[in-house]
Amino acid sequence: MESISVDKAIFTTRSMRRLRPDPVPREDIEHIVEAATMAPSAGNYQMWAFVAVTDETIRKKIGAAYRESGNYYIRDTVLVDPNTDAERMRVYGKAMYTVEHLAEAPVIIVACSTLAIPNDSAIAAGPFGSLFPAIQNLMLAARGRGLGSVLLTLATDHAPFPPTENISVRKILNLPEGVETVAIIPVGYPKGQWSRPRRDENLKVLHWNSWGN
Ligand SMILES: Cc1cc2nc3c(=O)[nH]c(=O)nc-3n(C[C@H](O)[C@H](O)[C@H](O)COP(=O)(O)O)c2cc1C
Repeated sequence: MESISVDKAIFTTRSMRRLRPDPVPREDIEHIVEAATMAPSAGNYQMWAFVAVTDETIRKKIGAAYRESGNYYIRDTVLVDPNTDAERMRVYGKAMYTVEHLAEAPVIIVACSTLAIPNDSAIAAGPFGSLFPAIQNLMLAARGRGLGSVLLTLATDHAPFPPTENISVRKILNLPEGVETVAIIPVGYPKGQWSRPRRDENLKVLHWNSWGN
C-alpha cells in the first residue's frame, strides 16, 4: 500500500465520524496499536492498553453506553443551551452523528490507562499525558492505512458524564481494577474525504521569545 508523508498525515487527519462497516484487517489494527506504543510516556511507564472490539454484540453495548452519555451531555445540555456559540453548535451537531452511530464502526478501540488515575491533576497529568500522544499516534497511523477515526472521551471512566442507565464500558470489557478507560476510538474506512482540519490559520498561537510577540 502507498505510504503518505508524516506531514500529509498530520495535515489531513480530521475526525472521521461516518465510517463504512467494512471489516478492517487484523494486521492493520495490530499495526496502529503498535504505532500507539511508540509514543513517549511519563517515565517510559507505557501505562497504556488497548481493547479492540470487533464483536457486534459488544460494540452495540458500548454504543448504548456512549449514546446515553452523549444524549445527556451533547443533545440535552450543550445543544439546548442558549449560550452555546455557533461554532460549538456546528461541532456538537456533528458529534451527535457519533452518538447515534458509534456501534456501526467495524472496530472500536478503547484506550485504557493501566495506572489508576487520581483526581490530583499533577499526578493525573502523567497517565493522561502519555495516553493522548499514543492515541494521536494511533489515529495518524490509521490515516496512513486509509482508516478514519475520532477521539471520544464521553462515557469513559474520566468523563464528567459516565452512563447511569447502561452498563459502563469498563464493565462491558471486564477491565480489572486499576485499569481505567480514557478514550473510545471508532476506526473504519471513511465515507467522507480527508481534508485539512478546521483551524485558525494565522499562527496566532505562536509567540516569539515572549508572550505577545
Ligand atoms: C480530549 C478530547 C476529547 C474529545 N471527546 C469527544 C467526545 O467525547 N465526543 C465527540 O464526539 N468528540 C470528541 N472529541 C473530538 C473533537 O470534538 C474534535 O477533535 C474537534 O471538534 C475537532 O475536530 P477535528 O478532529 O475534525 O479537527 C474529543 C477530542 C479531544 C481532543
